Amino acid sequence: MNELLVHPEIERVLLRQNEIEDRIDRVSADIAEAYRPHSFTVVPVLTGSFVFASDLVRRIPLPLELSFVWARSYRDGRSPGELELGAFPTAAEIEGRSVLLVDDILDTGRTLSSLREELLERGAADVKTCVFLDKPSRRQVEIEPDFRCFEIEDVFVVGYGLDFGGRYRNLPVVAALRPQGDAAGG
Ligand code: XMP
Repeated sequence: MNELLVHPEIERVLLRQNEIEDRIDRVSADIAEAYRPHSFTVVPVLTGSFVFASDLVRRIPLPLELSFVWARSYRDGRSPGELELGAFPTAAEIEGRSVLLVDDILDTGRTLSSLREELLERGAADVKTCVFLDKPSRRQVEIEPDFRCFEIEDVFVVGYGLDFGGRYRNLPVVAALRPQGDAAGG
């Protein structure tokens, strides 16, 4: 048992390592199929997607390039704050390229749709999106991912790159956080 999982903030495990690996095998095959034989640039959104992106790209046997963007929308624990975007790829890295934007979770949709627009404005030839988790019930901006690993209910999750107050990114599973105000049972 991972000792991080026995913390009273953690309610339950939603996705185990083998489920995650099997699903990423499938999605990376779909991505390879969609792009083959063309080269493209994978743009992971830091910090949350670093674990997912690293597992994903190692399963795609195509000549891809990597370049990172940075975004932050959860500055106050679980509630979305103002969206900050930064550290975009240079023009040379994306101009005329097919881009696959990779994020940890699609929630309201603000982050991914803003980043997609910004990359197109900066000269990307086309931008597709791939998310590890999708919470469709929370959507505020109309956006559907081109590739998605798991659809989840509206619970705050941590692990596999996702954090709460900077913690839990290194959990190898996805776990639901206990709802705020709930006393930890047991
Ligand atoms: P939007 O609302 O722009 O949000 O689609 C995407 C970003 O919000 C963060 N997010 C979460 N982070 N557990 C987290 O650790 C969650 O359940 C969660 N829901 C949204 C995340 O940073 C994502 O990139």
